[in-house]
Amino acid sequence: MQKSISPVSPNVQSNYLSEFIAQYSDRTKTSKQLAQIHRATLADNRVSAGFNLALKEICYPIVAKKSLGSKIWDADGNEYIDVVMGFGINLFGHNPPFIKAALLEQLDKGTHLGVQTELAGEVAQLITEMTGMERVAFSNTGTEAIMTAIRIARATTNRHKIAIFSGSYHGHFDGTLVETKEINGNFTTVPVDSGTPPNFAEDVLVLDYGNWRSLDIIKANKNELAAILVEPVQSSRIDFQPREFLHQLRQLTTQLDIALIFDEMVSGFRIHPGGAQDWFNITADIATYGKIIGGGMPIGVIAGKAKYMDKIDGGMWSYGDSSYPQVKQTFFAGTHCKHPLSLAAAKVVLQHLKDQGAVLQTQLNQRTTQFIQTLNTYFESGEIPIKLISFGSVFGAANSTSSSNSSDSSSLGLSLLSYHLIHKGILSRGGSGFLSTAHTDEDINCIVRAVQDSISDLQLGGLL
Ligand SMILES: Cc1ncc(COP(=O)(O)O)c(C=O)c1O
Repeated sequence: MQKSISPVSPNVQSNYLSEFIAQYSDRTKTSKQLAQIHRATLADNRVSAGFNLALKEICYPIVAKKSLGSKIWDADGNEYIDVVMGFGINLFGHNPPFIKAALLEQLDKGTHLGVQTELAGEVAQLITEMTGMERVAFSNTGTEAIMTAIRIARATTNRHKIAIFSGSYHGHFDGTLVETKEINGNFTTVPVDSGTPPNFAEDVLVLDYGNWRSLDIIKANKNELAAILVEPVQSSRIDFQPREFLHQLRQLTTQLDIALIFDEMVSGFRIHPGGAQDWFNITADIATYGKIIGGGMPIGVIAGKAKYMDKIDGGMWSYGDSSYPQVKQTFFAGTHCKHPLSLAAAKVVLQHLKDQGAVLQTQLNQRTTQFIQTLNTYFESGEIPIKLISFGSVFGAANSTSSSNSSDSSSLGLSLLSYHLIHKGILSRGGSGFLSTAHTDEDINCIVRAVQDSISDLQLGGLL
C-alpha cells in the first residue's frame, strides 16, 4: 500500500521549487551559460532531452571538464560520482591507467588509417576467444554494427524481412527505428519518427518480446525472414529475462535457417565475459558489440558464424594453392573502421577481462544487486513509490511502480529526483545507471545517502 500524500499547499511546492532551481542554476552556472551561448549553432538533442516547462531553467547538461575513476568534475569545479558511465562504456571507470597507457603508446606510433591496422587480427582473435564467435569485423558504432549484421543476414539468406521485438533499442539505423501502432483498428508497422520513410518499416515485423505467439508469427513468415534481432535483456525492461523464450527462439531459428542476431551492446562483456550468449547458454548466429570493448573509444563489432561473416570478405582462402574468396560479398565499408586508437583500447580491455576472469563480472554484478537492495529496502520502509531493478551492473527503475499510483506532483518529484542527485554530486540518468569496478564502497554509501537526502528534501517541499 502506498502512503497517501498529505496535501501540501501549492505555495510550499512552488517556493521550494523556485529556491531549488535558483540554487541548482547557481551551482552549475557555467554549464547553463554554455548551453545558452551555443544553442543557436549547436544542434544537440541532449541539451533539450526530457524538457519540462516547470523545470525549464535547469534543463541543460552538466558540462564535464575532467574525469577519473568513478568521478567527473564539471565546468564549475563541482565533483560528482558518475553512474552514467558513458551510457555503459566505462566498465573500469573513467580514464583507467591501463587504457590511458595503451592510447598514449598508440598516439606515439600514429593513428594511420588506409593501411591495415597492426592490431586488427589480434583483437579479432581475442574476441573469438571470449565470445565463441567464429569471425569478427569492426565498425565505428553499435548502430553500424547492427546495420551490417542485418545486411549480411539478408545477403546470406536471400530474404528481406527481419523481426525485432517491441521495447528493444538497436541504435539509430532507419531499418530498426520502427514500431507497431494501431491505426483504424489494424496493427501496422510504422517508422518511430519523422524522416524515416514508411518503406523502411515494410520489411520489419515488430513482435511482442517473450510472447509465445511471436514464435507462431515467425513460423508464418519463415520464407521471408532473414533474421531475428534480439536485445536479450532490454535496457527498457531489465527485469524481464525470458530464458526459455530465447531457447525456443534459438531452436526455431535454427530449424527455419533464419539468422538469430544477439545485440550485445550493453550485455556484452558485462553480464559475463561471454556476454548474454554465455549467460543464457545460447549461441547466436551473429552477435554485435560496442561500448565496453572500446574502452572509451568509438567501436562496433560484428561477430558471427563464418556462414554469415564470409559475406564481408568472401571467406577463407590461402596463398600457394588454388583457393580464392568464393563467397559472393555484400557491401561493407567505413573510413574509420579498425581505427588504431579504438583497437589499442580494445586490445587492453580484452586482455584485462581475460586476465581477471569471470570473477570481475561476478563481483561487480553482486555489488550492484546489493546496492539496489539497500535502496529498495529504504524505499519500501518509507513507502516511496520507487523500485530499482538490475541486470549485471546495469540498474534502473521498474517502470510499473514509478509511474502508476503517482499524483502529478509526485511524478514531477520523481523527475526532480535526478536533479536533486546532481545537486548533491551524483550523475545518474533518470535513476538508471551503471556501476563500474572503479566505484568504491564509499562511493556507493555516498549515492545511498544522496538518494535518502534528496527524497527527504522533496518530501519537505511537498513534491514526493
Ligand atoms: C542495445 C543497443 N544496441 C545498439 C545501440 C547503438 O549503439 P551506438 O550508440 O554505439 O550506435 C545501443 C546504444 O545504446 C544499445 O543500447
